[in-house]
Amino acid sequence: MGRRPKDYLKNKIKRPKMKTILQAPKGMPDILPEENLLRRKIFKAVEDLGNFYGFGQIETPVLEETKLFLHGTGPTSEIVQKQMFILKTPGKDLLALRPEFTPNIVRAYLENGLYNNPKPVKLFAWGPVFRYEQPQRGRYRQFWQCNFEILGSADPIYDALTIQIFYNLFTELKMKELMIEINTIGCDNCRPIWHKNLKNYFRSKRKFLCADCKNRLKINPLRILDCKNESCQSLKNGAPKMIDFLCPECRKHFKQILEYLEILGLPYNINHHLVRGLDYYTKTVFEIRLASDNLALCGGGRYDYLVEMLGGKSTPAVGGAAGIERLVEVLKKNNFKVENPYKPKVFLIAIGDLAKQRALKYLEALRKVKIPVAESFAHESLKAQLRQADKWEAPYVIIIGQKEALDNTIILRDMKASSQEVVESEKMIEELKKRFKNDNIENI
Ligand code: HAM
Repeated sequence: MGRRPKDYLKNKIKRPKMKTILQAPKGMPDILPEENLLRRKIFKAVEDLGNFYGFGQIETPVLEETKLFLHGTGPTSEIVQKQMFILKTPGKDLLALRPEFTPNIVRAYLENGLYNNPKPVKLFAWGPVFRYEQPQRGRYRQFWQCNFEILGSADPIYDALTIQIFYNLFTELKMKELMIEINTIGCDNCRPIWHKNLKNYFRSKRKFLCADCKNRLKINPLRILDCKNESCQSLKNGAPKMIDFLCPECRKHFKQILEYLEILGLPYNINHHLVRGLDYYTKTVFEIRLASDNLALCGGGRYDYLVEMLGGKSTPAVGGAAGIERLVEVLKKNNFKVENPYKPKVFLIAIGDLAKQRALKYLEALRKVKIPVAESFAHESLKAQLRQADKWEAPYVIIIGQKEALDNTIILRDMKASSQEVVESEKMIEELKKRFKNDNIENI
């Protein structure tokens, strides 16, 4: 005897259900399809620039040994002091979610012997990075960066080229009123003298410093220049400037970069307070932002000692990184339009089970000849599917009903002309191609 519906109900599995819908971790937003269209545009521009300027793409793991950043990004940086996501593996290793790319790229350069390649070695990378900060506009805990790094040359032409690449990236994305902020923070020869002067200056103003800066005074007075606290900010103007302490080599290096920027016609502003929050910088530091905004779209600089600090031979290097979310924000504000590149040329409608079987086969046949198709098989009625076809704005609709499925035919509907005809399914592709050609529909 067969089972009765009651028996099924009795045995129905009870699945545990969440009482509330879970949310993504704080500061780690989802990236939805529409936004991904914009992001793809950015990555395409990054890739094109990388190819043009001779950069190879590199990918490094999202997790790295924590000590890479302690050594690389530096113990006095905000990132190492407050912002790392660190996890302990079951094997008790301490790994950190990468808070930036530069030390990882240097690690990969050393580990994979990329220093054997002709110099300079040019690498670009993009991917997610993680920083434990208070989420706010333009500041997330998981965000994406694109990086350009040039390893193996001390020539200031590469500092200028790095800046030019980021400037080009933003202008490719139709951004206007960009401003390059640039400074030099010297080298191991001249910076200690500036440090000493900065320390003396801020020591004399100690009582006006915030609690964090009182601590910074002890470990790295340069960081005070980065402080956002109003009272500390107001002290900056009187602070000694690196430019007054530069050694002849650093002075020449900085002067040459400025000359290059002028030759390239790039707008820059020497910002004596720009020091950047990472410990590895030497000589050049820069940021690019919109003239109307304080948020940096990108930042970078020279890091001539980092390769050596991470165990390699002395290798001068320069690079920078841009925050993808900040670029997306500007694109949205500028109403930057991107069309979905996969606009369907055909909408496929199937009514009934046999028609759906045929439709699946036709879908594959169309994919093989690269004709973009959309469908809405979950809608059962012709009317509902036609409504979807309208939304997709496909110029042609293929309708397969019970009769067409049995006859091995299709109804081919020209949406613009509001006309339709029956075509043998074998001739479907040929007929479509002919019509696309007559209609001048691109890419087919
Ligand atoms: P950074 O200035 O820390 O530099 O980050 C580069 C860019 O990432 C910033 O200019 C900004 O656009 C974006 N960014 C930073 N923090 C956040 C955040 N919390 N949320 C969203 N976007 C953010 C570096 O990371 C260096 N590794 C750059 C470099 C490469 N220097 C030499 N080579």
